[in-house]
Amino acid sequence: MITSPDDVTAAVLAEVERARDPRTRELLAAAVRHLHAFVRETRLTEAEFQRIAGIVARLGQLTSESHNEVVLIAGSLGVSSLVCLQNNGAGGTHETTANLLGPFWRAGSPREQDGASIVRSPTPGDPIFVTGCVVDADGRPVAGAEVDVWNTSGEGLYENQDPRQAEMNLRGTFVTDSGGRFSFRTVKPAGYPIPVNGPVGDLLRAQGRHNMRPAHIHFLISKPGYKTQFSQVYASDDANLETDAQFGVTAALVGSYVQHDTATEPAPDPGVTGTWHSLEHRFVIEPGDSSLPKPPITGKATGEVPVQEFLEREP
Ligand SMILES: [Fe+2]
Repeated sequence: MITSPDDVTAAVLAEVERARDPRTRELLAAAVRHLHAFVRETRLTEAEFQRIAGIVARLGQLTSESHNEVVLIAGSLGVSSLVCLQNNGAGGTHETTANLLGPFWRAGSPREQDGASIVRSPTPGDPIFVTGCVVDADGRPVAGAEVDVWNTSGEGLYENQDPRQAEMNLRGTFVTDSGGRFSFRTVKPAGYPIPVNGPVGDLLRAQGRHNMRPAHIHFLISKPGYKTQFSQVYASDDANLETDAQFGVTAALVGSYVQHDTATEPAPDPGVTGTWHSLEHRFVIEPGDSSLPKPPITGKATGEVPVQEFLEREP
């Protein structure tokens, strides 16, 4: 019989012991211990408890086919980044080029020849020429790996969000050559704000945080025998590298985006005039499961260009 606060925790943990699956038992027991410790440590009031229950319910209510508020708040609290870093780089003991998948990957982007442009309709943003290299943990090139890439326009919008962009604009799939290399042309992406119309917005406002992700290009690298790697390479010149709203930026993923000008240096494509950029990055993949995740989105939005809402970071 429960006669004190401590008895509640003991009673719940005793019931957890009934779970047949050992891993489920372990996860549930830790969750109960930490949740109860949180209530004790904070002396959580009844009103605060009601408020938190409302926030959790709202996370689910705002989640749909094209938006996942639960994943967004996990990122905004650093949980996604922690899970990623703990499960890659030899169990978190080495630097890794793995990163968050993000909500904007679409399956089936067009397969392209090495060096091809993935700019499929007139798109704001300077040209950028990207060269990547995929190696294993011993530094040996991985040939024949599929590399699916995607990025925003110079206005910070993915094609699926922006009806003005062609289907699959700034998306493409490449295959590494015998040296593990691949290359392509796109436009230099811009940073973009994460949605703040729900609990994530309330969280950021409460802390005086901005809602920007630094500019980045996404990479999804897969080959049978290797763990599928989601990666993002962030622009070294972005002002928000240290304050990514999703805590995704790691030292291993700050890419050197180098600015050039055709006045002094011709671009790889002679048709380019003026400012252009280049980026080279090396990705290290590990042995493991090569399956692909379920795509978080399936198609393009129709109608108006979405209105982006920006939060300022308070000093
Ligand atoms: Fe992104």
